[in-house]
Amino acid sequence: MARIQEDAPIQRNHRLQGDYFQVDLHAPGIAAATQPGQFVHVQLPGFEHRVLRRPFSIYDVDAKTGRLSVIYKTVGEGTAHLASLPTGTVMNLLGPLGVGFSAPPAGTQPIVVAGGYGCAATYLFAKRSPVPPLVLIGGRSAGDILLQREFAALGCEVRISTNDGSQGHAGFVTALLEQALDRVSSPFVVSCGPNPMLYAVARILAERGLDGEVSLDHAMCCGVGACFACVVKLKAANPDGWEYVRTCLNGPVFKASTVHWE
Ligand SMILES: Cc1cc2nc3c(=O)[nH]c(=O)nc-3n(C[C@H](O)[C@H](O)[C@H](O)COP(=O)(O)OP(=O)(O)OC[C@H]3O[C@@H](n4cnc5c(N)ncnc54)[C@H](O)[C@@H]3O)c2cc1C
Ligand code: FES
Repeated sequence: MARIQEDAPIQRNHRLQGDYFQVDLHAPGIAAATQPGQFVHVQLPGFEHRVLRRPFSIYDVDAKTGRLSVIYKTVGEGTAHLASLPTGTVMNLLGPLGVGFSAPPAGTQPIVVAGGYGCAATYLFAKRSPVPPLVLIGGRSAGDILLQREFAALGCEVRISTNDGSQGHAGFVTALLEQALDRVSSPFVVSCGPNPMLYAVARILAERGLDGEVSLDHAMCCGVGACFACVVKLKAANPDGWEYVRTCLNGPVFKASTVHWE
């Protein structure tokens, strides 16, 4: 699919909780073309001393109004600057980029396993799923749990885990996944979150002879396949048994079984 470059005015940019913010933009071209799990590469105005765009998953779109929303966590210079941008500021977006999640095959029960901004990356998958997914959200503590109400409003059963026990199950979200897999006969698991979580999800699926889709978080430069800064190792049917592929172009979503976890 053709990528679109679009000047997108900020309609609203506000704090959701803690270090997490949501920015709503008017980007009708990209909003209409977005598939679940894709991302936009964002040029931040007033940030010209740092040449590189910043990649963000597309959280939600409204093709009728042209709204495109992103949820971001302030982790460094760029995201802190983004949080300071007022309504009306125009950001240049490149998107929708990458290969997103597959639609759940007929007859399967979709399961979303998400952590941090992985909730945003998987929301559109849940919104467009013909069957409301079971949604398992994990975080360090209650302040890291995002979009619980929004997933529930889609009709999803939502289960929470926190490492410190401040909300839901005390422990890792993968414990909730194991419980779910014990009772679901044809699961279709998609996941986005920190890479150690994705690795644990992939291991659990492999132990049960299952596969799923994971959205990898890898630092990016160009975002369009030109620089090879974002390569990951995938298993391959060649004499070496593996190959490097570009996360921005061939991913960020990959079959869990194909990733060479190391
Ligand atoms: C496909 C994709 C989708 C993404 N979607 C989202 C999203 O929906 N919401 C969101 O908040 N973030 C998302 N990210 C991560 C986001 O791009 C980075 O947090 C952002 O670029 C950091 O910019 P910065 O200038 O604030 O940080 P910098 O000043 O560049 O770095 C600050 C710190 O953040 C770390 N960092 C930078 N990039 C990443 C990264 N990709 N993953 C983990 N740590 C990083 C750096 O190592 C450093 O420690 C996504 C990344 C990718 C590759
Ligand atoms: S970021 Fe340049 S090839 Fe992927």
